[in-house]
Amino acid sequence: MTIPYRPLVLGFAAIAFSLVLLQRAQAGGSHFFAPVADPVVREECGSCHMPFAASMLPADSWQRMMGNLKDHFGDDASVDAETARRITGYLVANAADTGGRRYSDKLLRGVAMNNAPLRITELPKWVREHRKVADWEWKHKDVRTRANCAACHRDAERGYYDE
Ligand code: HEC
Ligand code: HEC
Repeated sequence: MTIPYRPLVLGFAAIAFSLVLLQRAQAGGSHFFAPVADPVVREECGSCHMPFAASMLPADSWQRMMGNLKDHFGDDASVDAETARRITGYLVANAADTGGRRYSDKLLRGVAMNNAPLRITELPKWVREHRKVADWEWKHKDVRTRANCAACHRDAERGYYDE
């Protein structure tokens, strides 16, 4: 079957679009995760990858991540103490188990809030949702990493993850 979610790259937009609509209907509605609203967080946490929605991880994961920005998945993402406090405050206040709960969808299902992964891409529900994605697609030059949400979810920056 044709893989319908990267119509621009694959170049059969017309067919793809109707399949997307069909899939959307099957998935039962929209998947919205409020984009990061704080300008400091957007800037500091959006320079290497898109700023991930706070509601995609529980507060505990954000706190652990913010406690070690020097070794951030192999990169040094450290910021000064004042900035770190502001970012942590925002992420914790809008996390999946706090203020962001209304957006966190079913993404956190089956995850202990005090022992969750640091990666969104390691959440069991995320893994399940992406099982259909083939190896070559992850390796495609326009994707390269699972963390590159916007490569496949064109409206990710606006908070939508439907297609
Ligand atoms: C210097 C570059 C850089 C900065 C700045 C940065 N990150 Fe990252 N981040 C990375 C890299 C590299 C990865 C691993 C990406 C991959 O697996 O392809 C990553 C991964 C992540 C992931 C996990 C993605 C997944 O796989 O689910 C989260 C969440 C994250 N970053 C949050 C943040 C937050 C919050 C900030 C701001 C404090 C931030 N990042 C700033 C480089 C950066
Ligand atoms: C290689 C392409 C690709 C990448 C990269 C990717 N996704 Fe997906 N994503 C998909 C596909 C395909 C689906 C399944 C859509 C469906 O079944 O309706 C999906 C489904 C989802 C869903 C469930 C929505 C639904 O309709 O059921 C969410 C939420 C989601 N992705 C979030 C993310 C996040 C967050 C990232 C980055 C950390 C990401 N995705 C990276 C392709 C991708």
